[in-house]
Amino acid sequence: MDIKTNRAIGVFDSGIGGLTVVRALMERLPFENIIYFGDTARVPYGVKSVDTINRYAAQITEFLIKKDVKMLIVACNTMAAVAHQTIVDLANVPVAAVAYQKIVEEVPVLEVIEASARMAIQHSKTKSIGVIGTPATINSNAYARAIHLLDKEAKVFSQACPLFVPLVEEGWFDHPATRLIAQEYLKQVIAEQVDTLVLGCTHYPLLKPLLQDIMGKSVQLIDSAEAMADIAADLIDQQNIGNKNSTPPAYTFYVSDVPYRFQTIGERFLGRTLGRVELISL
Ligand code: DGL
Repeated sequence: MDIKTNRAIGVFDSGIGGLTVVRALMERLPFENIIYFGDTARVPYGVKSVDTINRYAAQITEFLIKKDVKMLIVACNTMAAVAHQTIVDLANVPVAAVAYQKIVEEVPVLEVIEASARMAIQHSKTKSIGVIGTPATINSNAYARAIHLLDKEAKVFSQACPLFVPLVEEGWFDHPATRLIAQEYLKQVIAEQVDTLVLGCTHYPLLKPLLQDIMGKSVQLIDSAEAMADIAADLIDQQNIGNKNSTPPAYTFYVSDVPYRFQTIGERFLGRTLGRVELISL
């Protein structure tokens, strides 16, 4: 199939969390165009039902597929945990019909959970691994399953941290209130003496210095953004779909509400301007 290599990579999340993945992609794949969608009108997803999250994930996938992306990156653990199949199904795009047979283009879908599970197993020496995430991600058991597929002996201690996403969206990366809440959430994983803690939500790397401080230096924090960028780079290589233009890439950001707020907090985090952040309704 003819793939126009200058088509963008589509990246999405419920809000600004997926920018942690965008930052890694910009560094690892400096010539790739990126279209980002953050559902700022409906964040947080992690406290919502599986049905609702699937419905939102389907709308975002359809939006990005219409933008003709060549690859989709689910930069949201919550959607990866409970809506992966919905996204993959919609990423099979009918492109032609020959003798009653539909020809589909399978737009590749990459997600963060497997990448983080693999990194956690590689880094953990004691195989005692903590996982923090949204209630939907933790209740889905997706991390425990992914980790046990790689190592049956590993012990996984999970903790839902529902207040972290709103705190990050507020830009309270190192606020005393965030610290107090984190101390409370992390009590149990600290007591279990894990040597590795998976940040199982793409918003959490924005709290990394604070979380590292509370967990102690000896605990390895796993942020899947870089692993995700490596996986995307490998796939682009294998399928030979890398952008052949070496002109500066286009980055387009779409949100479903209050673009100014996304822009301010996003720029603070990325340390660069986001250009125009467009408001759209799905
Ligand atoms: N960044 C999303 C994740 O990785 C946050 C989900 C939410 O909106 O609660 O899970």
